[in-house]
Amino acid sequence: MGMGKSACSVERVIALGVLLTLVSGCWAQFTIPERYDGFVYNAKPEKGRGPVMWEVFVDPLCIDCKMGWPVVKQVAERYGSSVVVIVHPFPAPFHHNAYFAARALHVAQMANSSLVYPLMELIFANQESFLNPSTNHETPAHVVSRMISLASDLGIPSNTFEAGFNDSVTDQATRISFKYGCSRGVVGTPTYLVNGVNVVGADESWSADEWAKIFDPMVKATGFGMIYPSS
Ligand SMILES: *[C@@H]1O[C@H](CO)[C@@H](O)[C@H](O)[C@H]1NC(C)=O
Ligand SMILES: *[C@@H]1O[C@H](CO)[C@@H](O)[C@H](O)[C@H]1NC(C)=O
Repeated sequence: MGMGKSACSVERVIALGVLLTLVSGCWAQFTIPERYDGFVYNAKPEKGRGPVMWEVFVDPLCIDCKMGWPVVKQVAERYGSSVVVIVHPFPAPFHHNAYFAARALHVAQMANSSLVYPLMELIFANQESFLNPSTNHETPAHVVSRMISLASDLGIPSNTFEAGFNDSVTDQATRISFKYGCSRGVVGTPTYLVNGVNVVGADESWSADEWAKIFDPMVKATGFGMIYPSS
């Protein structure tokens, strides 16, 4: 992670988060979503069952998330349906266009769910052009229009994608993603949960072999028939 210079991990904020939790006493109730938040990466878990659920909180405009993504894919491929990978978009407020990028993923999910990950990778590929320094003098509408044009490169018609961006359903879905991350105590990205438990210290520098130290014993163990969310 490169202690202290990471763009997106904000472990220094953890203390503040803990403090706020203590002060506020409990988490406020937010809208309970109709479906489990997030996008299932390896879409075909065997009948929705497997021993391991790996949740990754990703800000599409986070440099560390972009760096860590290839390893997530490698691990997903190594374990197939034994490790169900779910990405939750978690747009950091200090990346000014991150909310648009996260919403774009929900729009893609609505337009054609098999294009969520291709779009996320295309946003990663064009990430620099969406970061604060690159967009200081760009209107929000123009930033959105560039995301629409990325989606159109993937074959989602511009009209469809624009309509998705206009639809309050995708706004709600993106808010829920963000609030879900908050409710799990996420304060930086990427954050990784394995079967719901935060893997403290895991970051984008972890190799597939480091993840294997966690996952190998788990996939060898007998599953308990836990039911995982499907896309
Ligand atoms: C969704 O995208 C995939 C991958 O590009 C494509 O094969 C499929 O035809 C698309 N589905 C629809 C309904 O457009
Ligand atoms: C989206 O909303 C804008 C602003 O209200 C409107 O000009 C545009 O026609 C809408 N696009 C679609 C495809 O609905």
